[in-house]
Amino acid sequence: MDILALHLSPRKNGNSAAMLEEFLKGARSTGASAESYSVTDLKIHPCIECGQCEKTGECIFDDDMNKLYPTLTTTKKIVISTSLFFYDVPAQGKALIDRTQPLWSRRYSLKQTDTLRPDGLGFLLAVGATKGQDLFLPVTLCVKYFFDSIGFPKEFESLCFRQLEAADDFVKRPDLIEQIFAAGQAFGKKQTA
Ligand SMILES: Cc1cc2nc3c(=O)[nH]c(=O)nc-3n(C[C@H](O)[C@H](O)[C@H](O)COP(=O)(O)O)c2cc1C
Repeated sequence: MDILALHLSPRKNGNSAAMLEEFLKGARSTGASAESYSVTDLKIHPCIECGQCEKTGECIFDDDMNKLYPTLTTTKKIVISTSLFFYDVPAQGKALIDRTQPLWSRRYSLKQTDTLRPDGLGFLLAVGATKGQDLFLPVTLCVKYFFDSIGFPKEFESLCFRQLEAADDFVKRPDLIEQIFAAGQAFGKKQTA
């Protein structure tokens, strides 16, 4: 499997879901394979900062994060697609990000290097309803430290679209569909070490 795709928004058939689907369509057209997960299908308990992972590198909760940890720690290409809720990733997606804390602990508390992938490639797709200049700053920072936590470089590519609000706003925009498909194609073709 070449690409792990994570949809972090609660609206199952909304903009960020359609954006991810189009991106993966582009990537798959180049022969890349992808495994896709949506928080709409996952049960993920929020992190409670119990501190256990700082000692063991493992989370105390046994839930759907266990489906993701093996891929999160080994795959070299990850694309995230999210809407903005109050400028950041919605709570359901933020729970997933927070639960990568065991991987952060392994790197920074336990000094383990097994999840380090300096050649890892990340991509962020994000969508919001408004149009402020700094609209995507918080989500970009959040995702930057998600990538760092799992052992990827902190730099990643992104495509962020403003002024899309109704669930079908993205699918009515052929110009944006074309951009995302092309970005998916380029991502699919990229080589890792
Ligand atoms: C609780 C809530 C908070 C939101 N906060 C923001 C925000 O801070 N900035 C913004 O531009 N849009 C905000 N939106 C709008 C969504 O980001 C927007 O409608 C987006 O297209 C939804 O994507 P989806 O269809 O993938 O769910 C918010 C929507 C909700 C329900």
